[in-house]
Amino acid sequence: MIGEPEPEGDSMLEQLTLYEGKPEDNPNPNHMGESYTGIYGMHKYWSKKPYNIIRDFILRYTKPGDIVVDPFCGSGISMTESIFTMRKAIGIDINPSAIFITRQMINRISTRLLQVEFGNLERDVKDRIASFYKVKRGAKEFVGTHFLWENGTLTEIWYKNKRTKIIDDPTDDDIRLASSFSYDRVPYYYPKNNFFHNSRINTRRENHIYDLFTPRNLEALSLLMDRIETVKNEDVREFLKFCFTASVGQASKMVFVVKKRGKCGGKSKGSEKKEIGSWVIGYWVPEENFEINVWNCFENKYRKILKAKKNLEKTDYLLNEAEIFDELRGSKNVLLINAPAQKVLKTIPDESVDYVLTDPPHGNRQPYLELSLMWNSWLKKEVNYEEEIVISESKDRNKDIHNYYELLNHVFKEIERILKFDHYFSLMFNSLDDDTWINLITSMNKLNFELKKVETLEYSAHSVVQDTRGAGLKTDFILTFRKSPEKGFEDLKITSLRENEHYLTELFNGCSNECNGLETYQILNLLVSDLLQQGKFFRLSEVLNILRTTFKRGENKWKKLV
Ligand SMILES: C[S@@+](CC[C@H](N)C(=O)[O-])C[C@H]1O[C@@H](n2cnc3c(N)ncnc32)[C@H](O)[C@@H]1O
Repeated sequence: MIGEPEPEGDSMLEQLTLYEGKPEDNPNPNHMGESYTGIYGMHKYWSKKPYNIIRDFILRYTKPGDIVVDPFCGSGISMTESIFTMRKAIGIDINPSAIFITRQMINRISTRLLQVEFGNLERDVKDRIASFYKVKRGAKEFVGTHFLWENGTLTEIWYKNKRTKIIDDPTDDDIRLASSFSYDRVPYYYPKNNFFHNSRINTRRENHIYDLFTPRNLEALSLLMDRIETVKNEDVREFLKFCFTASVGQASKMVFVVKKRGKCGGKSKGSEKKEIGSWVIGYWVPEENFEINVWNCFENKYRKILKAKKNLEKTDYLLNEAEIFDELRGSKNVLLINAPAQKVLKTIPDESVDYVLTDPPHGNRQPYLELSLMWNSWLKKEVNYEEEIVISESKDRNKDIHNYYELLNHVFKEIERILKFDHYFSLMFNSLDDDTWINLITSMNKLNFELKKVETLEYSAHSVVQDTRGAGLKTDFILTFRKSPEKGFEDLKITSLRENEHYLTELFNGCSNECNGLETYQILNLLVSDLLQQGKFFRLSEVLNILRTTFKRGENKWKKLV
């Protein structure tokens, strides 16, 4: 166990006999992720991996000065952890937002300078934005903080009178002010592109990014971004854009209302307490939603990010960004590239890399580029949708399972080529889909990758897993392969569990006695780990069928039928 105490109920996972060997030998296969705080809580990204686990893997498989590659680096946790542990790092991602977030996370920047520039920005735009949310009550004027809308009708206004939170009905003036804004009168840049049609993430091709915002918030955002773009110092300008994209979701109509029984603070309205939800994933605009004061969203995020940056400022780490691979052989220690991994890896010499650690796109779980459309378009980034490795349910894109396998297998092949012999490749993986697993196994069988270790990665109860977990798998697997000089080891075999049903029963009995049954994901974890380490694999759908026919389910746990 790394990081946090293991929750009760997981102890059965420790009973597995693990693969023996060096240095991959490890008596404990289950890693518990820590939550995303500090620099890792600065900006949303989906399927973020816990930094403590990433760090542990880097420490285990590399030494200071080694080159670590992550071809799908996402929000860049493998980059920061490599740099903090004095390794050199190459981070590749096709998503411009991913590389942007990564760079902002590691960037060394004077927080004093940031505070000065934030002060200038505040002086220039805060009052103007506040005037968009003016709330007049008698002779007094306040600034609205939250506006509740239901099916396009303004139903409630929150504002502060000194420190007291007031919740009030909207007046005619409030309604007039809100409706005085219009999409076609916004004077500055705002994204006008359409979505890809994809019901999985609630997008329709006739809708635009700007439909996610009320005209008032759109105008406030465009004014803010326009002013940020005038900041002369590039590092500060990018930092402020980072605060902008980190907060833009909360300034959208996607912020839902959480209803709880009980009285609200301040002057209450009814007995129902309304709390503020947050943008999670996809582009769902609820019928009842909040419109939150754009400046407040931005300032709150800025303060949180600044705090994390101040802590980082005290950390003594080296950051010397390279532009090409060769510079990593000298004093440069990080190379970040926004391009398709299948192309970038080709530019890296044979057997030049010490370790590859990555979490690739998992089939159809997250269409990252479609999900990041809001950020990329505010940032005016060009996006290469063609070469994304993904299965997208959008008919507007040609991203099916075959394209996904072809491109992903290409990357695996390149990883094998660039990795030094007897060095390691750790792959984080999670899928409930048989074909995706079988593709992975067949693809690895064609390469000189010997599976050395299978571990599970659990997320702590406190960590926000920014991901839609599959119905059964709450954990990710981390498979570690060693690049062997020759194919002197056996291929992984796809077996049928039907023919070995007793195996499932025995494994199950061995683990379930003390805890009165197992959840689906616990059974799958046991099986995947145990079988893979014996060099075998099975279809997950087969296990689920056997469970349904031979086991009974109660309180989410499976028990053997007697
Ligand atoms: C599972 S996510 C990685 C998340 C990361 N582990 C983190 O903690 O933030 C997979 C990443 O692969 C990227 N991706 C998809 N197709 C790609 C391609 N062809 N080349 C490089 N990156 C790609 C996506 O943009 C996404 O950021």
